[in-house]
Amino acid sequence: MNNPQKFSQMTRHRISMLGTGLIGMFYTQTLHQHRGQDRVTCVYSRSRDKAQKFAGDWDIPRYTDDMDEAINHPDTDVVVIGLPNHLHKEAIEKAALAGKAILCTKPLAMNGEEALALLQTVEKYGVFHGYLEDLCYTPKTLKALASVKAGSIGQVTWTRAREAHPGPHSDWFWDPGQSGGGAIIDLGCHCIEIGRNYIGKNVRPIEVMCWADTLVKPIKAEDNAIALIKYETGAISQIEVSWTFRGGMELKDEVAGTEGTIRCDHWLRTGFEMFVAGDTGNYVAEKAESESGWLFPVGDEVHALGYTHMFTDMFDAIDKSVSPMESFYDGYIVNAIMDACYASAKSKKWEPVKLPEWRGGEENIKKIKPREYDDQHWMIKEEKMPDGKTKVILKVKETEEIIQRFI
Ligand SMILES: NC(=O)c1ccc[n+]([C@@H]2O[C@H](COP(=O)([O-])OP(=O)(O)OC[C@H]3O[C@@H](n4cnc5c(N)ncnc54)[C@H](O)[C@@H]3O)[C@@H](O)[C@H]2O)c1
Repeated sequence: MNNPQKFSQMTRHRISMLGTGLIGMFYTQTLHQHRGQDRVTCVYSRSRDKAQKFAGDWDIPRYTDDMDEAINHPDTDVVVIGLPNHLHKEAIEKAALAGKAILCTKPLAMNGEEALALLQTVEKYGVFHGYLEDLCYTPKTLKALASVKAGSIGQVTWTRAREAHPGPHSDWFWDPGQSGGGAIIDLGCHCIEIGRNYIGKNVRPIEVMCWADTLVKPIKAEDNAIALIKYETGAISQIEVSWTFRGGMELKDEVAGTEGTIRCDHWLRTGFEMFVAGDTGNYVAEKAESESGWLFPVGDEVHALGYTHMFTDMFDAIDKSVSPMESFYDGYIVNAIMDACYASAKSKKWEPVKLPEWRGGEENIKKIKPREYDDQHWMIKEEKMPDGKTKVILKVKETEEIIQRFI
């Protein structure tokens, strides 16, 4: 083991990292590369060999195969959870008891009931809690969100988020007993929270219509799904997820408003294209299916996936004792919406989003409604015609007649 005092002069927060899989690696890479003052100082893996190797790779002074030891390590003040979904509960409860700040990956829990209980646990112990929903922090999403909040596209009417790839990289994802579900719980959680950020977190999600099916893989969970989530303003959030999409990983979102539209591609087709004639076997990007021919690499993966901005927000929030942009409350709402997705996929009907705890606004929620043209008319449409004249289509308020005028 390395010298445990090594980082004592320069380190602001010392982290116990739980998990040495894909996300443990991405998180550690982000923390060590970008915001140098926070360091992983203890890593846990159920395999001592993997923990040791990970510690060596990332210059981490302590490693262990004992989760309790990692969580309770006296040198650390923050616990980052990068374990399979069914282990989040145990890790969160232990970290709350230890009085540490807790940052948990997505999904927060196996279902809404478990997520609410975990929210109540961290609040009971008064510990900092952050929900590591990185895709709400991608540079493009943050910019788009700022534009939406500034009113650039008017009131949000519709969002669409799609996450599709050829399927997850580890056995436990494919077993609903360990993961809580299939593509919905794995990928839908991202799409739901992106839509919720655009529509407004104080706007209540009301009901869900979902199709989900197991089309290709020999598993008990869904490998494809589409859902519509209806919000209190009337806005609709469409999510599309697939574990059987071929050709890499698609991450894209759109948000439409009464006065504009935004469309973001975060992966696969981002304007970075490369052709490789031979088969080099070199890594290209997460879930890329090919290493030759036309390739779609990503410049800085942890930045493009939002991890950099996410951890900056989390640790700044810890320093300032404020809530981060994504907290366990948000994780709980997402889990509750996913429960409604599963209920709807089963019943084939609209199903309510059950939120025993709701902290959004009940008042001042503006329903989407038409724009006034003048005292007597509602505006329907304005268009410049090929002859250069501008036409408006209006509805007369009193008679409800629809008319057109050239202006
Ligand atoms: N974009 C994201 O935010 C993102 C991306 C990938 C994964 N995740 C989440 O991160 C978590 C881990 O996913 P991953 O991709 O790193 O998975 P992984 O399979 O790559 O790694 C999982 C880690 O947990 C350990 N583990 C597995 N089963 C265990 C058990 N029964 N007891 C103790 N340890 C066990 C493994 O050894 C490994 O260290 C999941 O909750 C997943 O949803 C989030």
